[in-house]
Amino acid sequence: MIAYIIAFLIFIGELYIIVYGAEYIWCIAHNQIPFVASAKRLRRAVVRTINKYYPNATSIVDIGAGYGGLARYIARNCNATVVALENMPFTITVSRIANWFARTHIQIIKCDAFEYLKSSPRFDIGVAYLGPNTNYRLAEYTKQFDMIITLDVPIDELKPTHIIDVGHGSTRYGRYKYPHKLFVYDLRK
Ligand SMILES: C[S@@+](CC[C@H](N)C(=O)[O-])C[C@H]1O[C@@H](n2cnc3c(N)ncnc32)[C@H](O)[C@@H]1O
Repeated sequence: MIAYIIAFLIFIGELYIIVYGAEYIWCIAHNQIPFVASAKRLRRAVVRTINKYYPNATSIVDIGAGYGGLARYIARNCNATVVALENMPFTITVSRIANWFARTHIQIIKCDAFEYLKSSPRFDIGVAYLGPNTNYRLAEYTKQFDMIITLDVPIDELKPTHIIDVGHGSTRYGRYKYPHKLFVYDLRK
């Protein structure tokens, strides 16, 4: 019996690796950042930043939310409704399953985030961990937010109001390493 359970778990693990790998390759082939979870250190810094610079924010959106870990962490630690936008089917499925079991729930929307934001209601804060190939697109959406926070990579077209050094660690995009930092764009000013 135990052997069957172990074999089943190995099968599930292998299936996960295959499907995750397929989505990962699809993303790279389509010049889209694949799902990689943000580090705990970055998540803590995001929450500290929101509670410091915009404590009364009521609506926050994670633009490219992956499994929803960052979005749920924000929902647990900030007094706001959190929406998670994601377009990859397997990633969305894992996110929904994680949401069933989570203590704090988020709203998960399957969409291309940039298409959705064209006609969505405004959000107080948009959070994005999207990398250098995609971040520039956020510059066209400043009217949708009071504040944008990007993880590790700035939006080249905008001037950040605050840059927060998160300390150890970095994210690698291609040949370049980006040390863990938050770029805050306070658009109320
Ligand atoms: C690096 S992960 C970040 C996940 C999560 N925000 C976190 O910090 O843990 C980026 C995610 O954005 C998603 N993504 C990228 N471009 C997107 C788009 N245009 N619309 C929706 N999701 C997108 C990817 O599928 C991936 O899951």
